[in-house]
Order: sequence, then structure tokens, then C-alpha cells
Amino acid sequence: MGGYNELMSVHIGAASGEIADIVLLPGDPLRAKFAAEELLSDVTCYNEVRGMFGFTGTWKGTRVSIQGTGMGVPSLSIYVHELLHEYQAKTLIRIGSCGSYQADVHVNDIVIAMTASTDNAHNRLRFGGKDFAPCADFGLLRRAADLADERALRYHVGGIVSSDTFYQDDPEAWKHLANYQVLAVEMEANALYTLASAAKAHALAICTVSDSLVTREELSAEDRRAGFASMIELSLDTAVGVEA
Ligand code: HPA
Repeated sequence: MGGYNELMSVHIGAASGEIADIVLLPGDPLRAKFAAEELLSDVTCYNEVRGMFGFTGTWKGTRVSIQGTGMGVPSLSIYVHELLHEYQAKTLIRIGSCGSYQADVHVNDIVIAMTASTDNAHNRLRFGGKDFAPCADFGLLRRAADLADERALRYHVGGIVSSDTFYQDDPEAWKHLANYQVLAVEMEANALYTLASAAKAHALAICTVSDSLVTREELSAEDRRAGFASMIELSLDTAVGVEA
């Protein structure tokens, strides 16, 4: 591969074998660093390209990687494509944050996404005008919900929306999808589910609620970190197949 180290992909500087079959995907690369250093054992950093850190370590004896994706569908799609097709990742769990669309979905709650609508064009381009309905891997979804029940975590399972616009002109626009029982908004899950489906991999998105469009409440940075830790542990146990 003309001049390039044949073992690295375009955006991930890892040799083959350095990334585990199981990959957790926070948007924020510093969250990947924090999660790997706090929770995994025997951690190595395999990627620093573009500051999008990726780490591999072990969780309860199983190899796990944690790879930052950046924000939004295009950025996540690049990393997930390379993880699936260059590094043969098999189980991908997005660990993110989301904004609540529903009065009973409170800040700090966990949202487990059964499906994700989108206003992004990638699936319109991919499916030539058909509406593909991306869905989570049922085994991962069921295990995450069972573990969340066992741990008495406040969680919700349902549809979310992966939006391209964090800041919108119309402050009421979100209410349309809220009326269709969409639980929350983030910016990536729709693409993760679509790409994983095509590669016959297992995918799930688990998000903590960092803010509410209903109440305008926002978590402080400190509360966000605390809520994130229990959600990442839930995600790790889900990914490695810990039984509830
Ligand atoms: N919009 C989009 N993504 C988000 C939000 C939001 O309000 N909160 C957390 N991720």
C-alpha cells in the first residue's frame, strides 16, 4: 500500500490485532482515555491520529477496545467503517450522551436505543430513496436492559434521533419527533446501526441524558462524569456478555 504502513487504516494507526473484537465508542476521545484508564487493565493506546484516541485493555478478563469517534454521522462513520472492515470488529457499543425529548426521561437517566431516526442524508444516499429502519442488536439490547434492571439504574428503551444539527433555528422543531415517542436526541447512532447491519456485526447505543429539551435542565460536568461511569460499566458488561 504505497508508502503507508500496511497495518494501519486511513484514520486509525493500529496494527492488525491491536484492536479487540469488542469496541466501545464514545464521541469524545478524552472520554475514551478516561474510561480506558479508569476501568480497563493492561491498557495500551493504539491510536493518536487526529487526537482521536483508541485504547485496548481487558475488562473482567476479556479484551476490549475504546475508540473515540468524534461528533456526528460523518465522523463516526469513518471510524466505524474502518473498525468493521479493516480491523474486523464484531461488537460495537456507542457510549454517548443525549438530550431528552420526554418529560419522564430525566437528566442522568440512561437511554438504550432500540432504533434511531435521522435527518442526516447518508441513508437516503445509500438506499436510493428507500427508508431503511436501523435497529439495535437484540441480544445486546436485552442484556443491557436486564443488567440495568438488576442494578436498579433509571433507564428507558425506545427510539432516539441522530440529528445533524445541535443548534437549530426553530427552538420548537424537536417537538415533532417527540410526539412520535422519540425519547432523545444525539448525533451518531443511526449510522452505527446501519453500518453494523451491513457488516453483520452487533451494535447498540447506550446514552446518558446530559440535558433536557423539555425542562432546559443541564448536568454539571461533575454529575455528567459520575453518571457516565455507571453507564460505561453497564456497557462493558453488556459487551462481554456478563449475565444479569
Ligand atoms: N442535541 C444533540 N446531541 C446531544 C444533545 C442535544 O441536545 N445532548 C447531548 N447530545
